[in-house]
Amino acid sequence: MTAVSLSRARILLIVSGGIAAYKSLELIRSLKDRGATVRVVMTAAARQFISPLSAATLSGQPVRDDLFSLTEEATIGHIELSRAADLLVVAPASANILARMAGGLANDLATTLLLATDKRVLAAPAMNVRMWLHPATRRNVDRLKGDGVLFVGPESGSMACGEFGPGRMAEPPAIVEAIEQALAGGTALGDSPGPLSGRHVIVTSGPTYEPIDPVRFLGNRSSGRQGHAIAQSAIGAGARVTLITGPVCLSDPPGADVIHVGSAREMREAVEAALPADAFIAAAAVADWRAESVANHKIKKGVSESPTLRLVENPDILAEVSKKTTMRPAVVIGFAAETENVTVNAKAKLRTKGCDLIIANSVAEGSSTFGGGTNQVEVIDARGVESWPPMSKAAVADGIVRRLALELAKHE
Ligand code: C5P
Repeated sequence: MTAVSLSRARILLIVSGGIAAYKSLELIRSLKDRGATVRVVMTAAARQFISPLSAATLSGQPVRDDLFSLTEEATIGHIELSRAADLLVVAPASANILARMAGGLANDLATTLLLATDKRVLAAPAMNVRMWLHPATRRNVDRLKGDGVLFVGPESGSMACGEFGPGRMAEPPAIVEAIEQALAGGTALGDSPGPLSGRHVIVTSGPTYEPIDPVRFLGNRSSGRQGHAIAQSAIGAGARVTLITGPVCLSDPPGADVIHVGSAREMREAVEAALPADAFIAAAAVADWRAESVANHKIKKGVSESPTLRLVENPDILAEVSKKTTMRPAVVIGFAAETENVTVNAKAKLRTKGCDLIIANSVAEGSSTFGGGTNQVEVIDARGVESWPPMSKAAVADGIVRRLALELAKHE
Protein backbone atom coordinates (compact mmCIF):
# COMPACT_ATOMS: atom_id res chain seq x y z
CA MET A 1 0.00 0.00 0.00
CA THR A 2 1.37 3.42 -0.84
CA ALA A 3 1.36 6.03 1.88
CA VAL A 4 0.70 9.69 1.16
CA SER A 5 2.65 12.73 2.21
CA LEU A 6 1.24 14.51 5.23
CA SER A 7 2.00 17.93 3.87
CA ARG A 8 -1.25 19.94 3.96
CA ALA A 9 -3.16 17.01 5.54
CA ARG A 10 -5.77 18.21 8.06
CA ILE A 11 -5.85 16.00 11.12
CA LEU A 12 -8.41 16.30 13.89
CA LEU A 13 -6.75 14.70 16.90
CA ILE A 14 -9.07 13.59 19.69
CA VAL A 15 -7.22 12.96 22.91
CA SER A 16 -9.08 10.87 25.49
CA GLY A 17 -8.09 10.17 29.08
CA GLY A 18 -5.13 7.92 29.78
CA ILE A 19 -1.52 8.02 30.82
CA ALA A 20 -0.57 7.57 27.12
CA ALA A 21 -1.92 11.10 26.47
CA TYR A 22 1.62 12.42 26.96
CA LYS A 23 2.60 10.58 23.78
CA SER A 24 -0.06 12.57 21.89
CA LEU A 25 2.05 15.68 22.39
CA GLU A 26 4.91 13.96 20.55
CA LEU A 27 2.41 12.85 17.89
CA ILE A 28 1.26 16.46 17.38
CA ARG A 29 4.88 17.54 16.94
CA SER A 30 5.64 14.74 14.43
CA LEU A 31 2.55 15.55 12.39
CA LYS A 32 3.36 19.27 12.36
CA ASP A 33 6.97 18.50 11.35
CA ARG A 34 5.58 16.64 8.33
CA GLY A 35 3.51 19.64 7.29
CA ALA A 36 0.11 18.55 8.62
CA THR A 37 -2.39 20.88 10.25
CA VAL A 38 -3.48 19.49 13.60
CA ARG A 39 -6.56 20.58 15.53
CA VAL A 40 -6.86 19.06 18.97
CA VAL A 41 -10.00 18.17 20.89
CA MET A 42 -9.60 16.85 24.43
CA THR A 43 -12.06 14.97 26.58
CA ALA A 44 -12.56 16.07 30.18
CA ALA A 45 -10.51 13.05 31.33
CA ALA A 46 -7.64 13.92 28.96
CA ARG A 47 -7.23 17.25 30.78
CA GLN A 48 -6.33 15.28 33.91
CA PHE A 49 -3.26 13.95 32.09
CA ILE A 50 -2.00 16.75 29.84
CA SER A 51 -2.73 20.45 29.77
CA PRO A 52 -4.70 22.02 26.90
CA LEU A 53 -2.03 24.72 26.85
CA SER A 54 0.69 22.20 25.86
CA ALA A 55 -1.48 20.79 23.06
CA ALA A 56 -2.41 24.31 21.87
CA THR A 57 1.20 25.46 21.89
CA LEU A 58 2.42 22.44 19.93
CA SER A 59 -0.45 22.42 17.44
CA GLY A 60 -0.50 26.19 17.03
CA GLN A 61 -4.31 26.09 17.27
CA PRO A 62 -6.73 26.58 20.13
CA VAL A 63 -7.78 23.35 21.81
CA ARG A 64 -11.50 22.56 21.89
CA ASP A 65 -13.10 20.64 24.70
CA ASP A 66 -16.53 22.15 25.26
CA LEU A 67 -19.58 21.07 23.27
CA PHE A 68 -21.68 24.05 24.36
CA SER A 69 -19.17 26.89 24.27
CA LEU A 70 -21.02 29.87 22.76
CA THR A 71 -17.86 31.77 21.89
CA GLU A 72 -16.26 28.78 20.17
CA GLU A 73 -19.47 27.80 18.36
CA ALA A 74 -19.62 31.34 17.00
CA THR A 75 -16.22 30.95 15.33
CA ILE A 76 -16.29 27.31 14.24
CA GLY A 77 -19.18 24.94 14.93
CA HIS A 78 -18.59 21.36 15.99
CA ILE A 79 -19.94 19.89 12.77
CA GLU A 80 -17.63 22.14 10.79
CA LEU A 81 -14.73 20.97 12.95
CA SER A 82 -15.11 17.38 11.77
CA ARG A 83 -15.95 18.38 8.18
CA ALA A 84 -12.81 20.48 7.93
CA ALA A 85 -10.56 17.46 8.62
CA ASP A 86 -9.21 14.81 6.26
CA LEU A 87 -8.93 12.26 9.04
CA LEU A 88 -10.03 11.93 12.67
CA VAL A 89 -7.45 10.31 14.93
CA VAL A 90 -8.36 9.16 18.45
CA ALA A 91 -5.09 8.82 20.38
CA PRO A 92 -5.08 7.61 23.02
CA ALA A 93 -8.41 5.85 22.59
CA SER A 94 -9.50 4.74 26.07
CA ALA A 95 -11.86 1.82 26.73
CA ASN A 96 -14.45 4.43 27.64
CA ILE A 97 -14.32 6.39 24.39
CA LEU A 98 -14.28 3.16 22.33
CA ALA A 99 -17.43 2.04 24.19
CA ARG A 100 -19.09 5.40 23.58
CA MET A 101 -18.12 5.32 19.89
CA ALA A 102 -19.39 1.74 19.52
CA GLY A 103 -22.67 2.75 21.15
CA GLY A 104 -23.06 5.84 18.96
CA LEU A 105 -23.13 8.19 21.97
CA ALA A 106 -22.63 11.92 21.53
CA ASN A 107 -22.32 13.11 25.10
CA ASP A 108 -19.32 15.42 24.77
CA LEU A 109 -17.57 17.31 22.01
CA ALA A 110 -15.24 14.40 21.13
CA THR A 111 -17.98 11.80 20.63
CA THR A 112 -20.27 14.32 18.92
CA LEU A 113 -17.56 14.98 16.36
CA LEU A 114 -16.97 11.25 15.90
CA LEU A 115 -20.67 10.69 15.28
CA ALA A 116 -21.06 13.69 13.00
CA THR A 117 -18.11 12.92 10.75
CA ASP A 118 -18.18 11.47 7.26
CA LYS A 119 -14.40 11.08 7.31
CA ARG A 120 -12.32 8.07 8.17
CA VAL A 121 -11.50 7.50 11.83
CA LEU A 122 -8.27 5.95 13.11
CA ALA A 123 -8.08 4.83 16.75
CA ALA A 124 -4.94 4.12 18.77
CA PRO A 125 -6.21 2.23 21.83
CA ALA A 126 -4.43 2.51 25.16
CA MET A 127 -5.63 0.86 28.32
CA ASN A 128 -4.89 -1.71 30.98
CA VAL A 129 -4.40 -5.21 29.53
CA ARG A 130 -7.47 -6.59 31.31
CA MET A 131 -9.64 -3.79 30.00
CA TRP A 132 -8.33 -4.47 26.48
CA LEU A 133 -9.01 -8.21 26.79
CA HIS A 134 -12.43 -7.76 28.44
CA PRO A 135 -15.23 -9.21 26.30
CA ALA A 136 -17.01 -5.83 26.33
CA THR A 137 -13.98 -4.09 24.79
CA ARG A 138 -13.51 -6.94 22.29
CA ARG A 139 -17.16 -6.51 21.28
CA ASN A 140 -16.79 -2.74 20.95
CA VAL A 141 -13.61 -3.04 18.87
CA ASP A 142 -15.21 -5.65 16.59
CA ARG A 143 -18.24 -3.43 16.13
CA LEU A 144 -16.11 -0.39 15.37
CA LYS A 145 -14.02 -2.38 12.87
CA GLY A 146 -17.29 -3.43 11.23
CA ASP A 147 -18.22 0.28 11.06
CA GLY A 148 -14.97 0.96 9.19
CA VAL A 149 -12.94 2.44 12.04
CA LEU A 150 -9.22 1.77 11.54
CA PHE A 151 -6.97 0.69 14.39
CA VAL A 152 -3.26 1.00 15.10
CA GLY A 153 -1.97 -1.00 18.07
CA PRO A 154 -2.17 -1.52 20.93
CA GLU A 155 1.26 -2.97 21.48
CA SER A 156 2.31 -5.54 24.04
CA GLY A 157 4.75 -4.68 26.77
CA SER A 158 5.02 -3.57 30.35
CA MET A 159 2.41 -0.99 31.22
CA ALA A 160 2.21 2.03 33.51
CA CYS A 161 -0.09 0.00 35.81
CA GLY A 162 2.69 -2.57 36.33
CA GLU A 163 1.06 -5.32 34.26
CA PHE A 164 2.31 -6.89 31.04
CA GLY A 165 0.41 -7.55 27.84
CA PRO A 166 -1.42 -5.85 24.98
CA GLY A 167 -2.79 -2.40 25.82
CA ARG A 168 0.09 0.03 25.36
CA MET A 169 -0.61 2.76 22.84
CA ALA A 170 1.31 2.39 19.57
CA GLU A 171 4.36 4.63 19.45
CA PRO A 172 3.92 7.97 17.63
CA PRO A 173 6.00 6.88 14.54
CA ALA A 174 3.67 3.86 14.09
CA ILE A 175 0.63 6.13 14.44
CA VAL A 176 2.07 8.55 11.88
CA GLU A 177 2.58 5.63 9.49
CA ALA A 178 -1.01 4.45 10.06
CA ILE A 179 -2.23 8.02 9.42
CA GLU A 180 -0.34 8.09 6.13
CA GLN A 181 -1.87 4.77 5.12
CA ALA A 182 -5.37 5.84 6.17
CA LEU A 183 -5.05 9.01 4.11
CA ALA A 184 -3.76 7.01 1.14
CA GLY A 185 -6.94 4.93 1.23
CA GLY A 186 -9.23 7.88 0.43
CA THR A 187 -11.74 9.64 2.60
CA ALA A 188 -14.92 7.60 2.31
CA LEU A 189 -15.91 5.60 5.35
CA GLY A 190 -15.33 1.85 5.33
CA ASP A 191 -13.32 1.53 2.14
CA SER A 192 -10.02 0.88 3.87
CA PRO A 193 -7.74 -1.13 1.59
CA GLY A 194 -6.34 -3.03 4.62
CA PRO A 195 -3.01 -4.89 4.76
CA LEU A 196 -4.53 -8.01 3.13
CA SER A 197 -6.47 -6.13 0.48
CA GLY A 198 -6.53 -8.09 -2.80
CA ARG A 199 -5.40 -11.30 -1.08
CA HIS A 200 -7.26 -14.59 -0.99
CA VAL A 201 -6.89 -16.42 2.33
CA ILE A 202 -8.19 -19.95 2.97
CA VAL A 203 -8.81 -20.77 6.63
CA THR A 204 -9.83 -24.17 8.03
CA SER A 205 -11.56 -24.22 11.39
CA GLY A 206 -13.29 -26.49 13.88
CA PRO A 207 -13.08 -30.26 14.28
CA THR A 208 -13.81 -32.92 11.70
CA TYR A 209 -16.32 -35.68 12.36
CA GLU A 210 -15.35 -39.10 11.04
CA PRO A 211 -18.42 -41.32 10.69
CA ILE A 212 -18.59 -44.81 12.18
CA ASP A 213 -22.19 -45.45 11.17
CA PRO A 214 -25.07 -43.09 10.25
CA VAL A 215 -25.38 -42.06 13.92
CA ARG A 216 -21.92 -42.17 15.48
CA PHE A 217 -18.67 -40.44 14.71
CA LEU A 218 -15.11 -39.85 15.94
CA GLY A 219 -14.53 -36.20 16.77
CA ASN A 220 -12.61 -33.85 19.02
CA ARG A 221 -13.19 -30.88 21.34
CA SER A 222 -12.23 -28.07 18.95
CA SER A 223 -14.80 -25.23 19.12
CA GLY A 224 -13.59 -23.43 15.97
CA ARG A 225 -13.39 -20.13 17.86
CA GLN A 226 -9.74 -19.47 17.01
CA GLY A 227 -10.12 -20.35 13.32
CA HIS A 228 -13.30 -18.29 12.96
CA ALA A 229 -11.61 -15.34 14.71
CA ILE A 230 -8.75 -15.57 12.19
CA ALA A 231 -11.22 -15.55 9.29
CA GLN A 232 -12.96 -12.51 10.82
CA SER A 233 -9.70 -10.68 11.37
CA ALA A 234 -8.48 -11.42 7.81
CA ILE A 235 -11.75 -9.99 6.46
CA GLY A 236 -11.19 -6.90 8.61
CA ALA A 237 -7.74 -6.62 7.03
CA GLY A 238 -9.32 -6.56 3.58
CA ALA A 239 -8.78 -10.18 2.46
CA ARG A 240 -11.20 -12.34 0.51
CA VAL A 241 -11.64 -15.23 2.89
CA THR A 242 -12.76 -18.78 2.22
CA LEU A 243 -13.54 -20.39 5.57
CA ILE A 244 -13.81 -24.18 5.45
CA THR A 245 -15.27 -25.32 8.72
CA GLY A 246 -16.10 -28.58 10.41
CA PRO A 247 -19.20 -28.85 12.63
CA VAL A 248 -19.21 -25.92 15.11
CA CYS A 249 -21.80 -23.99 17.12
CA LEU A 250 -20.66 -20.62 15.75
CA SER A 251 -22.31 -18.31 13.27
CA ASP A 252 -20.59 -17.75 9.93
CA PRO A 253 -18.31 -14.69 10.02
CA PRO A 254 -19.99 -11.98 7.94
CA GLY A 255 -18.22 -11.40 4.66
CA ALA A 256 -16.54 -14.84 4.45
CA ASP A 257 -17.25 -17.42 1.81
CA VAL A 258 -18.08 -20.28 4.18
CA ILE A 259 -18.03 -23.97 3.24
CA HIS A 260 -19.37 -26.41 5.82
CA VAL A 261 -17.85 -29.88 5.80
CA GLY A 262 -18.00 -32.98 7.99
CA SER A 263 -15.01 -35.24 7.55
CA ALA A 264 -11.29 -34.67 6.90
CA ARG A 265 -11.66 -35.92 3.34
CA GLU A 266 -14.49 -33.45 2.69
CA MET A 267 -12.31 -30.69 4.17
CA ARG A 268 -9.39 -31.63 1.91
CA GLU A 269 -11.66 -31.60 -1.15
CA ALA A 270 -13.03 -28.16 -0.21
CA VAL A 271 -9.49 -26.78 0.30
CA GLU A 272 -8.39 -28.13 -3.11
CA ALA A 273 -11.44 -26.55 -4.73
CA ALA A 274 -10.80 -23.18 -3.04
CA LEU A 275 -7.20 -22.91 -4.35
CA PRO A 276 -5.41 -20.84 -5.62
CA ALA A 277 -4.86 -18.61 -2.63
CA ASP A 278 -2.18 -16.29 -1.28
CA ALA A 279 -2.30 -17.90 2.14
CA PHE A 280 -3.56 -21.06 3.80
CA ILE A 281 -4.17 -21.09 7.55
CA ALA A 282 -4.89 -24.58 8.88
CA ALA A 283 -6.56 -23.86 12.20
CA ALA A 284 -8.86 -26.90 12.06
CA ALA A 285 -8.32 -29.81 14.43
CA VAL A 286 -8.49 -32.39 11.67
CA ALA A 287 -9.00 -35.97 12.89
CA ASP A 288 -5.83 -37.93 12.24
CA TRP A 289 -7.73 -41.19 11.73
CA ARG A 290 -11.08 -42.38 10.42
CA ALA A 291 -12.89 -45.69 10.60
CA GLU A 292 -11.68 -47.99 7.82
CA SER A 293 -15.23 -48.94 6.96
CA VAL A 294 -18.41 -47.04 7.72
CA ALA A 295 -21.50 -49.13 8.44
CA ASN A 296 -24.47 -48.03 6.35
CA HIS A 297 -26.87 -48.87 9.19
CA LYS A 298 -26.73 -48.15 12.94
CA ILE A 299 -24.48 -50.79 14.55
CA LYS A 300 -26.71 -52.65 17.02
CA LYS A 301 -25.75 -53.47 20.56
CA GLY A 302 -26.08 -57.09 21.73
CA VAL A 303 -26.40 -58.62 18.26
CA SER A 304 -22.85 -59.97 18.18
CA GLU A 305 -19.61 -59.26 20.05
CA SER A 306 -18.61 -55.64 20.69
CA PRO A 307 -17.45 -54.25 17.36
CA THR A 308 -13.77 -53.55 16.73
CA LEU A 309 -12.91 -50.26 15.04
CA ARG A 310 -10.06 -50.41 12.58
CA LEU A 311 -8.66 -46.95 11.91
CA VAL A 312 -6.87 -45.67 8.84
CA GLU A 313 -4.96 -42.42 8.56
CA ASN A 314 -6.64 -39.34 7.11
CA PRO A 315 -4.97 -37.18 4.48
CA ASP A 316 -2.81 -34.50 6.12
CA ILE A 317 -4.26 -31.39 4.48
CA LEU A 318 -1.64 -29.02 5.87
CA ALA A 319 1.29 -31.18 4.70
CA GLU A 320 -0.30 -31.69 1.29
CA VAL A 321 -0.86 -27.98 0.72
CA SER A 322 2.63 -27.10 2.04
CA LYS A 323 4.29 -29.56 -0.31
CA LYS A 324 2.40 -28.62 -3.44
CA THR A 325 4.60 -27.93 -6.43
CA THR A 326 1.91 -25.95 -8.22
CA MET A 327 -0.60 -23.64 -6.61
CA ARG A 328 1.21 -23.63 -3.25
CA PRO A 329 -0.01 -20.53 -1.39
CA ALA A 330 2.86 -18.10 -0.71
CA VAL A 331 2.37 -18.43 3.04
CA VAL A 332 1.16 -21.61 4.77
CA ILE A 333 0.44 -21.50 8.50
CA GLY A 334 -0.29 -24.53 10.66
CA PHE A 335 -1.31 -25.03 14.26
CA ALA A 336 0.16 -27.42 16.78
CA ALA A 337 -2.08 -28.32 19.69
CA GLU A 338 0.08 -30.31 22.07
CA THR A 339 -0.39 -31.67 25.56
CA GLU A 340 3.36 -31.85 26.30
CA ASN A 341 6.72 -30.61 24.97
CA VAL A 342 4.79 -27.95 23.06
CA THR A 343 7.74 -26.08 21.54
CA VAL A 344 9.86 -29.12 20.65
CA ASN A 345 6.95 -30.91 19.00
CA ALA A 346 5.86 -27.78 17.16
CA LYS A 347 9.37 -27.20 15.78
CA ALA A 348 9.42 -30.79 14.49
CA LYS A 349 5.98 -30.24 12.94
CA LEU A 350 7.22 -27.14 11.10
CA ARG A 351 9.83 -29.31 9.37
CA THR A 352 7.76 -32.43 8.69
CA LYS A 353 4.71 -30.55 7.43
CA GLY A 354 6.76 -28.07 5.38
CA CYS A 355 4.73 -25.01 6.39
CA ASP A 356 6.15 -21.51 6.91
CA LEU A 357 4.84 -20.81 10.39
CA ILE A 358 3.43 -22.88 13.22
CA ILE A 359 1.19 -21.45 15.92
CA ALA A 360 1.73 -23.71 18.93
CA ASN A 361 -0.49 -23.91 21.97
CA SER A 362 -1.02 -26.22 24.87
CA VAL A 363 -4.22 -28.22 25.09
CA ALA A 364 -3.11 -29.93 28.30
CA GLU A 365 -5.66 -30.37 31.05
CA GLY A 366 -6.35 -27.03 32.72
CA SER A 367 -5.62 -24.91 29.62
CA SER A 368 -8.61 -23.04 28.20
CA THR A 369 -7.53 -23.51 24.57
CA PHE A 370 -10.34 -25.86 23.54
CA GLY A 371 -13.60 -23.96 23.70
CA GLY A 372 -12.28 -21.09 25.87
CA GLY A 373 -12.10 -17.42 24.89
CA THR A 374 -8.38 -16.99 25.42
CA ASN A 375 -5.25 -18.54 24.02
CA GLN A 376 -1.54 -18.39 24.76
CA VAL A 377 0.56 -19.20 21.74
CA GLU A 378 4.10 -19.50 20.50
CA VAL A 379 4.76 -18.45 16.94
CA ILE A 380 7.47 -20.59 15.41
CA ASP A 381 9.26 -20.18 12.10
CA ALA A 382 12.57 -21.45 10.75
CA ARG A 383 14.41 -18.67 12.61
CA GLY A 384 13.01 -19.17 16.09
CA VAL A 385 10.23 -18.97 18.62
CA GLU A 386 8.17 -15.93 19.65
CA SER A 387 6.10 -16.31 22.84
CA TRP A 388 2.94 -14.22 23.02
CA PRO A 389 1.25 -13.41 26.35
CA PRO A 390 -2.22 -14.86 27.06
CA MET A 391 -4.73 -13.00 24.90
CA SER A 392 -8.29 -13.28 23.69
CA LYS A 393 -8.63 -15.43 20.58
CA ALA A 394 -9.61 -12.27 18.66
CA ALA A 395 -6.34 -10.61 19.69
CA VAL A 396 -4.35 -13.74 18.76
CA ALA A 397 -6.16 -13.70 15.40
CA ASP A 398 -5.25 -10.04 14.84
CA GLY A 399 -1.61 -10.84 15.66
CA ILE A 400 -1.54 -13.76 13.23
CA VAL A 401 -3.12 -11.64 10.49
CA ARG A 402 -0.58 -8.85 11.07
CA ARG A 403 2.22 -11.41 10.85
CA LEU A 404 0.69 -12.91 7.70
CA ALA A 405 0.62 -9.46 6.07
CA LEU A 406 4.34 -9.05 6.84
CA GLU A 407 5.16 -12.53 5.46
CA LEU A 408 3.16 -11.87 2.28
CA ALA A 409 4.92 -8.54 1.79
CA LYS A 410 8.24 -10.47 1.65
CA HIS A 411 6.95 -12.33 -1.41
CA GLU A 412 6.21 -9.18 -3.42
O1 C5P B 1 -0.39 -33.41 12.95
P1 C5P B 1 -1.21 -32.51 13.81
O2 C5P B 1 -2.67 -32.85 13.80
O3 C5P B 1 -0.71 -32.30 15.18
O4 C5P B 1 -1.02 -31.11 13.10
C1 C5P B 1 -1.81 -30.00 13.36
C2 C5P B 1 -1.85 -29.10 12.15
O5 C5P B 1 -2.02 -29.87 10.97
C3 C5P B 1 -3.05 -28.16 12.20
O6 C5P B 1 -2.68 -26.98 11.52
C4 C5P B 1 -4.12 -28.95 11.44
O7 C5P B 1 -5.07 -28.09 10.87
C5 C5P B 1 -3.30 -29.65 10.38
N1 C5P B 1 -3.78 -30.97 9.99
C6 C5P B 1 -4.30 -31.17 8.73
N2 C5P B 1 -4.73 -32.41 8.34
C7 C5P B 1 -4.65 -33.45 9.18
C8 C5P B 1 -4.11 -33.27 10.49
C9 C5P B 1 -3.71 -32.02 10.86
O8 C5P B 1 -4.40 -30.21 7.97
N3 C5P B 1 -5.06 -34.63 8.80
